[in-house]
Amino acid sequence: MILLIILLFFYSSVSATSLYARLENGLARTPQMGWNTYNTYSCHPNETIVHSNAQALVSLGLADLGYRYVTTDCGWSVADRLPNGTLTWNETLFPSGFPSLGRYIHDLGLLFGVYGDSGIKLCGSPPDQAGSLYHENIDAKTFGEWEIDSLKYDNCYSDAATGYPDANYSPSVSPEPRYSIMSRYLQALNRPILFQICEWGIDFPALWAPAIGNSWRIGNDIIPHWRTVFRILNQAAPQVSFASSGQWPDLDMLEVGTEVFTIPEEQTHFSLWAILKSPLIIGADLTSISNDSLAVMMEKDVISFNQDIIGTSASLQRRWSDDGYEVWSGPLSGNRTVAALINWKSEERRLTLDLPDIGLQYAGELRNIWDGSSMTVVRTSYTSKIAGHGTMLVELGGTSPVGIYPSELFSSSRGDTHTFAPIYARSSSARYNLAITFAHCLSTTTHIIVNSVPEAVPNSTCHVSVFVTLAAGSNNTITIHSVPSIKSIQVQEPNSTYYAGDTNFTLSGSARIVTCGEGFCQPVGAKIGYLSPNSTAAAHIPATLTGDGRKYVEIDYINNEIAFNSSWGWGSNSRNITIGVNDADPVLLEVPLSGRHSELYGPGRGWWDTATLGVLTSGWKEGLNKVVIGNEGGEHGFQPYAADFVGLRVYLGADEDA
Ligand SMILES: *[C@@H]1O[C@H](CO)[C@@H](O)[C@H](O)[C@H]1NC(C)=O
Ligand SMILES: *[C@@H]1O[C@H](CO)[C@@H](O)[C@H](O)[C@H]1NC(C)=O
Ligand SMILES: *[C@@H]1O[C@H](CO)[C@@H](O)[C@H](O)[C@H]1NC(C)=O
Ligand SMILES: *[C@@H]1O[C@H](CO)[C@@H](O)[C@H](O)[C@H]1NC(C)=O
Ligand SMILES: *[C@@H]1O[C@H](CO)[C@@H](O)[C@H](O)[C@H]1NC(C)=O
Ligand SMILES: *[C@@H]1O[C@H](CO)[C@@H](O)[C@H](O)[C@H]1NC(C)=O
Ligand SMILES: *[C@@H]1O[C@H](CO)[C@@H](O)[C@H](O)[C@H]1NC(C)=O
Ligand SMILES: *[C@@H]1O[C@H](CO)[C@@H](O)[C@H](O)[C@H]1NC(C)=O
Ligand SMILES: *[C@@H]1O[C@H](CO)[C@@H](O)[C@H](O)[C@H]1NC(C)=O
Ligand SMILES: *[C@@H]1O[C@H](CO)[C@@H](O)[C@H](O)[C@H]1NC(C)=O
Ligand SMILES: *[C@@H]1O[C@H](CO)[C@@H](O)[C@H](O)[C@H]1NC(C)=O
Ligand SMILES: *[C@@H]1O[C@H](CO)[C@@H](O)[C@H](O)[C@H]1NC(C)=O
Repeated sequence: MILLIILLFFYSSVSATSLYARLENGLARTPQMGWNTYNTYSCHPNETIVHSNAQALVSLGLADLGYRYVTTDCGWSVADRLPNGTLTWNETLFPSGFPSLGRYIHDLGLLFGVYGDSGIKLCGSPPDQAGSLYHENIDAKTFGEWEIDSLKYDNCYSDAATGYPDANYSPSVSPEPRYSIMSRYLQALNRPILFQICEWGIDFPALWAPAIGNSWRIGNDIIPHWRTVFRILNQAAPQVSFASSGQWPDLDMLEVGTEVFTIPEEQTHFSLWAILKSPLIIGADLTSISNDSLAVMMEKDVISFNQDIIGTSASLQRRWSDDGYEVWSGPLSGNRTVAALINWKSEERRLTLDLPDIGLQYAGELRNIWDGSSMTVVRTSYTSKIAGHGTMLVELGGTSPVGIYPSELFSSSRGDTHTFAPIYARSSSARYNLAITFAHCLSTTTHIIVNSVPEAVPNSTCHVSVFVTLAAGSNNTITIHSVPSIKSIQVQEPNSTYYAGDTNFTLSGSARIVTCGEGFCQPVGAKIGYLSPNSTAAAHIPATLTGDGRKYVEIDYINNEIAFNSSWGWGSNSRNITIGVNDADPVLLEVPLSGRHSELYGPGRGWWDTATLGVLTSGWKEGLNKVVIGNEGGEHGFQPYAADFVGLRVYLGADEDA
């Protein structure tokens, strides 16, 4: 028996990490932190710049917080190798040379990062600078001789088939072999070298990069505009589950302190990079950075979320596109949870985090990181003021899971009347299942009254279940008259009914059914494509007992429109989809990417990966309800086509759809 338990333990701990092959070089157990020349100095670094910023990392106290890798990005090398084939530096820019630069950095107690390229030239050429393609072995050895600690490896001038253009976002062969070969040569050195894969998200690296590197860039470069944050988060959404110790999704270097964002924007950027477990690589000029920006990157709690030993990335829980906010959350060590609510609007607002949206009902302690406040006994929801483009970043501890309301936390009693509040509901429905657990099993048949409805509870009962009506929101009350005292109540959502795009909807205009490969477009196996402002999918859904007519619905959608060259402009990695019920204004949902496979060499699998997000719709009535999926108003967006639609889950309750 003991052997069996040990085997089971061994099996479960191994299987947790062996889903994908992973590089084990002992580095980046938590996301790497450091500084890089690029965001401030582009491809024009020099020795003075690197020396002064490395010094500043130490003197400002950043090194003590973990920012230790100092990397000189593009611009450092020259067109020609030495006569013996070795890569070398630009002597005008780095008069002391790279080995000496490394010693300087090491003497400060920091780590020496070098930048290379898996193509024939570095990014930023011309003036031409040699890349490592076809020279991986000798270059890895040279890097080893220079005693580097990390290599950021880029992807410019790498596609042989098209004559080595600066960038080709859909090459005829995967970048993977070019990164693998450098990884192997680095591992052959007797020096652990952190390997940062930077190929801009081509060929969905989350599936292969963890086997050969310590981090992978999830997408194209961050740009110095606020809109870049939304674009990058939309690309991170389907990749964050691949994060784990030693292998991190790289959202690109920080723009905190480069004077392109406001402080609330910098807080949003830094919070989300931190909790999604991106490496935190400063891009600012540390010799002139403002104290306010510095304070953002020195916020110890946020750094601790990034460096938390659990290493699980936060994920997108809910997005309110019409109202301009969204919630991400994830687990931390010590049974804590971190959650971020982003205010996308430019004005300051009071916004509410409903704990059920992050799987919780209660938190014994809450700390609001950016406003410095804290609170104990948080029931159901938490509201705070958030600056325009700012983020409510909270750490929650002493939590209990969604749906459970212990009396001592949620009920107030007067005589035999117990009032539970605040009770949360995602939908308005009469079919919430309320389970009452008594403090002691009953020793006689008992009459109780739940929200004015009498119920007889048989003798010997310890629990009783009844249906209750709740309205969508976090402001419900359940009142129970009961002589026996109540230990807790548990509220369970109404049952859902699934409407599949292909069988339960009628198509109009250009909308059409697309059949997917085996096991894809879950759970249906097909999807509706080519939805647009004039092309829809409609269903007539029967409902009764709809209360105030608001229903929570979950959309299974597919979006794989990745912003590669459009990432420099308005590319957002998003698509819109609208959900209209009867005559009510349709709800807009701007969905992130869902694809978890590459499109390049397979049969379009990235366009077959489903993701799910829920929205609250209104306008439901008794009888048949016309539900229309499309992209109403989409002619005003960047992309008139809606996200592809797989199906709809409606939380109506078991007897409401008969
Ligand atoms: C290094 O770069 C800085 C900032 O761009 C510049 O002021 C300085 O002249 C440069 N030094 C050298 C040696 O190129
Ligand atoms: C070194 O960098 C300077 C400044 O960018 C440039 O003018 C010069 O051509 C470079 N030297 C070589 C050999 O590429
Ligand atoms: C090539 O020459 C440089 C400069 O003399 C030297 O540092 C390097 O070790 C040499 N490389 C090889 C592979 O011999
Ligand atoms: C930043 O803070 C330091 C130390 O608190 C102070 O000496 C310095 O004057 C501040 N700089 C600015 C620009 O406020
Ligand atoms: C976390 O919760 C579990 C289950 O409630 C408990 O056994 C464990 O001691 C808790 N750990 C910490 C660090 O609080
Ligand atoms: C309730 O049930 C218990 C045993 O299940 C029994 O001993 C008791 O007499 C019952 N009470 C009444 C009032 O029927
Ligand atoms: C919550 O309910 C109370 C009592 O019905 C009401 O006064 C209050 O305005 C409601 N709050 C919200 C946010 O709906
Ligand atoms: C959901 O459906 C199951 C089985 O059909 C039923 O037993 C249960 O009561 C339903 N729950 C709700 C909340 O309607
Ligand atoms: C969806 O369509 C299928 C096939 O016609 C049908 O069997 C199923 O009952 C429909 N689903 C709903 C929820 O109406
Ligand atoms: C972007 O990429 C697409 C497909 O590779 C290409 O057709 C288009 O011309 C590119 N646009 C720009 C602005 O480079
Ligand atoms: C989605 O709709 C919003 C609001 O109309 C618009 O600003 C945005 O550009 C649209 N997104 C896309 C990808 O078209
Ligand atoms: C429908 O919308 C699509 C996408 O905007 C457009 O290409 C097409 O011309 C429109 N068709 C009609 C009939 O308006």
